[in-house]
Amino acid sequence: MEVIIKKDYSDMCDEAVRLIHQTWQKGENLVLGLATGKTPLGVYDRLIRLHREQQMDFSDVLAFSLDEYLGLPDNHSQSFVFYMQQNFYQHINIKEENIFHLRGLPDHIETHCREYETKIQEVGGIDIQILGIGENGHIGFNEPSSSLSSRTRVKTLTQETIAANAHFFHHQDEIPRYCLTMGIGTIMESRMILLLASGEEKSAAIQQSIEGPITASVPASILQLHPQAKFIIDEEAASKLARKSYYKWVYEHKDKVDDFLAKKRKRTD
Ligand code: GLP
Repeated sequence: MEVIIKKDYSDMCDEAVRLIHQTWQKGENLVLGLATGKTPLGVYDRLIRLHREQQMDFSDVLAFSLDEYLGLPDNHSQSFVFYMQQNFYQHINIKEENIFHLRGLPDHIETHCREYETKIQEVGGIDIQILGIGENGHIGFNEPSSSLSSRTRVKTLTQETIAANAHFFHHQDEIPRYCLTMGIGTIMESRMILLLASGEEKSAAIQQSIEGPITASVPASILQLHPQAKFIIDEEAASKLARKSYYKWVYEHKDKVDDFLAKKRKRTD
């Protein structure tokens, strides 16, 4: 696990995009896992800009959605299929057949979830999973108390999430009560995980996830076990961290390890 603290939202998104771009440059068939919400929007905007201005090619990239509301058709303005299409896919040259969504109206829920997991395996697993975080520490729609080894499945939304979403819908009976989400076990199998958080309202969840015990009560705390999980957060989201200055110091000095060794070797020659 690595903690990367950036000045503000913009610097945070730049850092996430730098890591994605770096991985993309290394090889073919980059497999992304992508989150919705307001936090990753800056990342998608920057990737679109890289595509337009620096010819970043997405034709070999594969993308999997992290979650979806159950009961919404793909073309509903609040569905995550619609969100990904509007905010990212329609602006880049990703191939239709390389986009994988969890669907709001599957014919059979269990089969759909099982096939989604199989598809992730078939393409060789997710290289980079982008995550946001809920104020209660949830990742995807894995609310507190979700099994830390869960797989893609149906979940019942918490009353807080239902209430928070209410204003996005015209009719009471449209408000989703259930969702599909990659499980915590599924997320943990990604080769690299970039969890993004911005703003004071995320600071308690961030502090508990990074410095608290690993517990199903704070699902993001499981990332402490992942060797390539990076919390990329802004100053406000980092404001409650007890070891904030240490994380900053480590980050600023990590590229200097090679210099340090080179100097030592010279002295011992
Ligand atoms: C929802 C999504 C999560 C997202 C979270 C935070 O619960 N299922 O994937 O991380 O909201 O969203 P935001 O980035 O808008 O704060």
